[in-house]
Amino acid sequence: MFIHTKDLKSRAGEDVRLRGWLFSKQARGRLCFLVLRDGEGTAQLVCERGILGDAVFESLKSLPLESPIEAEGRARVPEGRAEAELAVSSIEAAPSADDWPIGRKDHGPDFLMEKRHLWLRSPRQAAILRVRSSLEFACVEFLHKEGFHRFDSPLVTPTACEGTTELFELDYFGKSAYLSQSAQLYSEAGIAALERVYSLGPCFRAEKSVTRRHLTEFWGVEPEMAHVDAEGNMVFQERFIRAILRKVAEERAGDLAFLGRDPESLVFGPAPFPVLLYDEALARLSRLGRGVSWGEDLSVEDEEALAADFATPFFVYKYPVRCRAFYIEPDPADPRLALSSDCLAPGLGEIITGGQRASDHDFLKSRIVEHGLSLEDFAWYLDLRRYGSVTHSGFGMGIERMLRWILDLHHIREAIPFARTPQRFAP
Ligand code: 4AD
Ligand code: MG
Repeated sequence: MFIHTKDLKSRAGEDVRLRGWLFSKQARGRLCFLVLRDGEGTAQLVCERGILGDAVFESLKSLPLESPIEAEGRARVPEGRAEAELAVSSIEAAPSADDWPIGRKDHGPDFLMEKRHLWLRSPRQAAILRVRSSLEFACVEFLHKEGFHRFDSPLVTPTACEGTTELFELDYFGKSAYLSQSAQLYSEAGIAALERVYSLGPCFRAEKSVTRRHLTEFWGVEPEMAHVDAEGNMVFQERFIRAILRKVAEERAGDLAFLGRDPESLVFGPAPFPVLLYDEALARLSRLGRGVSWGEDLSVEDEEALAADFATPFFVYKYPVRCRAFYIEPDPADPRLALSSDCLAPGLGEIITGGQRASDHDFLKSRIVEHGLSLEDFAWYLDLRRYGSVTHSGFGMGIERMLRWILDLHHIREAIPFARTPQRFAP
């Protein structure tokens, strides 16, 4: 039975077996220190010439990085050290090619992205991806426990959900089709059957803009709820965010610490997340010397400026109708405003967009026309307002946006195994 490096410490004093890949090595006289990497972290193997014999010892000294290794020995925690190591009694290795391209020296991001299939193995990248996995599971677990049904929407779609300028077009047997920008419209069909649904899947945006927060393919978790209004939607988002962060903090405390994030910083006090009206956001921005004229969307820089002032996630609510998507419900008290919110992460900016969906057939129809969309293509979506239309709301959170914030990543490309950006779709 093999154990994982993360369990080595708890097995101190016992004979155990580890397997993995050679991450680094250093020979010193009669000793050779190998760092073994497995799917959960790294551990040091202490190899002694006197125990392993000259032939094995010499072969270890010239073993190429990334060679698969299986080792057996005594787990121990040396005096005054926090980490456990393995005092090796026997070891087997299968030499890898000896020109591993990723060195300790600083490579530029282009080189690393070119070698992304190998770069993934570095302890930092592996830790990020474990946190990602935990985050996705936390989303699914929380929603499942809250009574949501997973509802998988198509990725090949005949229409746009979030504006027509960012669509990837496909030739679908001679007809135009588009890669899905969001599962939302389909989930709205789902709620009339299942009440509470969510999707967790790829979303595509053909945005040419090269930023540190945009991917052309990202993963969205998108809950949709019948009988919930825009304010209930924000209350639910807050519970969702608190729950998933708590879960990630518990499950991946070691990786978070390794990545320089205090797990405690993901657990917030009881004060509710602030809700700022769009108008209040504009007033704040103006005090910060940033003029935004009424009706304009907030820019990345505006969001960053606002988000610098908060210690917890917060909402900006009631954006002007004209900077939101066609499906929004207007504020009955002021139809220039949409019952639509963004959730911004402190120090970063938007991680979620959500809101109440237009439930009136004729209003929605007029919005489709205003946005220059085809009534024929959206006939099915309008049907949802003809047959049993109810108040409903939902939201979408980009997994990579959230992970970038959790881990304070410089660039969103590290938040997904193989990033797709305007300049890159390989490897
Ligand atoms: O704000 P967006 O465009 O909203 C929607 O798509 C709604 N239909 C969601 C819904 O209500 N079901 O996208 C939702 C979230 C954003 O807040 C952001 O976290 C992420 O998806 N996102 C992106 N992440 C990475 N790269 C991009 N190009 C992204 N575009 C949106
Ligand atoms: Mg948005």
